[in-house]
This record gives sequence, C-alpha cells and structure tokens, in this order.
Amino acid sequence: MKVILSYSNPAEIQSECVAVIALDHNADKSKDAKPQARLSIDQLAASAEDVIATGDVTAKPGEATLMHGAKSTKAKRVLIVGGGKAAKFNADELRKAAGTAVRFVKGKNLKSLALALPSSLPAEQAVRAAAEGAYIADFDPNYYHSDKKDQKLDELMLIAPANADKSKLEAALTAAVAIGEAQNFTRDLVNEPSNRMTPTILADRAKAMAKETGLKCEVLGKDKLLELKMGSFWGVAKGSEEPPALIVLTYEPTQKPTDGSPVVGLVGKAITFDTGGISIKPADGMEKMKYDMAGGATMLGAMRAIAQLKPRVKVIAIICAAENMPSGTAQKPGDVQFAMNGKSIEVINTDAEGRMVLADGLCYARQLGATHLVDAATLTGACVVALGAVHGGIFANDDEIYARFEQARKTAGEKFWRLPLDDEYRDMIKSNIADIVNSGGRWGGAVTAAKFLQEFVDDRPWIHLDIAGIAWMEENKPWIAKGPSGIAVRSVIEFVRSF
Ligand code: BES
Ligand code: MN
Ligand code: ZN
Repeated sequence: MKVILSYSNPAEIQSECVAVIALDHNADKSKDAKPQARLSIDQLAASAEDVIATGDVTAKPGEATLMHGAKSTKAKRVLIVGGGKAAKFNADELRKAAGTAVRFVKGKNLKSLALALPSSLPAEQAVRAAAEGAYIADFDPNYYHSDKKDQKLDELMLIAPANADKSKLEAALTAAVAIGEAQNFTRDLVNEPSNRMTPTILADRAKAMAKETGLKCEVLGKDKLLELKMGSFWGVAKGSEEPPALIVLTYEPTQKPTDGSPVVGLVGKAITFDTGGISIKPADGMEKMKYDMAGGATMLGAMRAIAQLKPRVKVIAIICAAENMPSGTAQKPGDVQFAMNGKSIEVINTDAEGRMVLADGLCYARQLGATHLVDAATLTGACVVALGAVHGGIFANDDEIYARFEQARKTAGEKFWRLPLDDEYRDMIKSNIADIVNSGGRWGGAVTAAKFLQEFVDDRPWIHLDIAGIAWMEENKPWIAKGPSGIAVRSVIEFVRSF
C-alpha cells in the first residue's frame, strides 16, 4: 500500500471513494439519547446532508455508510465512517475509523481510497494515526486460502488541511509507515504455523530483515549456547529435533554514544511451538501455541522500525527461539538446570518454558551491555485470566522506567495494565533443591512468572510485557482482522524513541 498526502478540497478529489468521519455531537449520556451525527470536516457536509437526515448515521465506532452519487462531490463514492462521541474523539478513535474505512473498501474490492482527516485533531497526529490504522486494517491472515485474492489496497490518500505544515506532515507519514509496516511484519511472522516458522526460519527472516534495513544480525546455535552456559534455554530446546536459535540484532545510532549513555536491551520469547513438553498440554486449543513466538516477533518488528526511524540510542534485541517438545531428549519435571548467571532452576513444569528461555536471554542482554531491559512474551495463561484480551500485563522493577514506558504506550495507543512485583511473591518460587522453581503454581501465576524473570535482570531497570492475551485476537473487528495483532510493537518502538 502506498500512502500519499493531499491538500486539496475533499469535495474536489476524483477518486473511487472518499471517506469522511462522522462524530456524534449529542453530549447527553442517557441510554435513549438520539445520536446527532455531523461530519468532522465542512467541505463534504453538503454530500452527506440527505443521508444524515434519514437518521441512518449514528457515528458509532465501526459503522460505515456508503453513498453513491452524492451531490457536490467529485468522488464516485462517499463513505461515512463512525468516529464515536465528538467529545471523546482522539487519535485512537481515528486509528480505528481509518481502519474501518480501509477494511470496508477492501471488502468491496476497491483498490484506492481517499480519507479526509478530521479538523479537530492536530494534523501531524491525525496523519500518524490514520496511516497506522490503515496499515493495521490492510492485513489479512488468510495466507493459505487457495482462492485467495490479493485484496490489498494499492493507494491511500490522506487529505490534510490546505494550511498544514507540509514538511512536518511528510515526516509524520514516514514514521507512521515505518511503524505500521513493522506491526504487520510482526503479524506476518506470528501468523505462520510452526511447520513454516521454525527457529531456523525465524532466524533467516531476521537475517533478511537486518540486511534490508542495515542492522547487524548474529545467530547463535546450540554449541554457542552451551559455551555461554545457557543451561536454562538449552533445557527447553533440547527436546526438539529443530535446533534453537538465539537471534541477536544490533542497532547503532549514527552519532557515537558517549560512555555511560543508555543501551536498550529488547528480549523476546520465541517458542515457535509450545506443546508443553513432557508436562504436555491438552489437545484442545493446542494449535494456538504456534503464536508462542509473538514476543520475539514483537522485538523483530520493533527493530525493523528502529532501523528506519534512527533513534539516538543503541539497541540490542535478543530473540530466544526454540520449540518446546516432549521426546526422549526432553527435560523432565524435577530436572535442575543452570542459567547463564549460575542460578539453579528446578523444573516443576516443563510447560513453564518461556521464563526459562528468557532467563538466559536477559542475562545475555546484560552481558552485551544493556542498561535498560524490556522483554515481551506470551508468558502465562494466568495473565489472560486476569486481563482477558483487552489489556496486556506490564511489570516494572523501577518507577522511572515504568513512567517512560507508560508515556510511550499512550502515544502508541496500546493497552497495558500494571501488575505487582512485591517481595512476598518471591517466596512462592522457592525450591527445596535449587535456587528457584520454574512454576509458582496456580495463584498469581502471571506475577510469579515475572518474579522468576526478575532473578535474571539484576538491578537493571526492566519492563516485562505479558502479551499472552493480546497477541492473538479471537474476533474480527471492523478495523482489524482476527488473528495475530502485533500489539506491543508500537509501544516498544515509542519507548526506544523516547531516549
Ligand atoms: N505459552 C504459554 C502461555 C500461554 C497461555 C500463552 C495461553 C498464550 C495463551 C506458557 O508457556 C505456559 O504454558 N504457561 C503455563 C505456566 C504454568 C505451567 C506455570 C500456564 O500459563 O499455564
Ligand atoms: Mn508453555
Ligand atoms: Zn509458552
């Protein structure tokens, strides 16, 4: 998809379809309050007069009303998309509205769309949100449908106010394209089934991406893992015929960092399939465990955008890729493994494998010089029980890094809810035989998993994102297809840009 900017009058644009956002101006919050829909720009108001008079336009998010032969407009079609309550309208709502428009016209097999940006948001912010929303909406997971048509949109034109600062809007668009493409890059990786996304294939995809974007990429295999004493990572990987891959990507800022400047370490869980291992999972729903590499894919997507956006901070990404399988060489409950930092781990449940690969990934990030750590992982079912598919779980051992991430998350328009890390939870992962157990049991499962990870970050400021509930969407929305969501990519990118 190509996204271009235009500063023409939306009523004068000759296109297949021009979309415009309607907002509900009724401030009455009572249940039976009638919506008062009004377009978010004046130039197309005449075209929509008649349909709005019918009362058909409620302006609810996700609503799309198509008009043919609208008066006072040069476009063949005018599409009115809902933006919700006028008083609450913001960049997040615009992202959804732009996505709704894109998915609607894709469904009609149109190849181009013009979207009139609402005048109530700062133009830069509007360009960014609309372009991101369009990219997110353009993704469909139907890769292996044999009758798959290429439904992708060829061109999206964003119509900005004529008096806008053009160079600023161009810059906002360039960033939005990098971010939107990065999120879809991640979703593409996550969408692949495990027979088409092994640790080796993931490493190859990382190498290709690094080559394209100018990142440094190194892939460590079994021998190197053993040499580095990554016994925790290897404990998980050794049950599979598929060799593991520790993918290390490095971004160096153009300006040489001075001594003591921060280095961000991004660590991702990439279990390309999680059977549970010897503590095997029930068959029902096991197919979903192909998305257990979403944390790693998140970091790969983020690195892709980082390479393009060129922030002023060094970034190292470490993606721990392995398959969790039961076999004659698999680790067993009761086994003791040693992580890279010398800590001993009693394996209570081989299905708590994510924390084991991340343990060594976090140690290695520190060894490579990371001063600030962020990890992302589809880590626990307990986090899904706690927060559902709405918020991801976020943990932090330091309020300053949390505040920085929170700001980034808001800019990115993603949802994460902070969960605690009190010392009392540490008692729940004590072992009789080793330093810690890998499973704290049922209660507070998302927290005890995070406490486990904390053993490997030392005193570095650290953010842990549990994305088990949000990395895969079970329902279609008008603005996004069900399947891999790519949520967390934008927040991580924004976090890195904040340095
Ligand atoms: N990959 C799973 C977590 C998961 C669950 C991701 C649901 C996505 C959706 C993880 O490896 C796992 O199996 N966790 C166990 C931990 C337990 C054995 C302590 C869990 O959550 O049940
Ligand atoms: Mn598991
Ligand atoms: Zn897992």
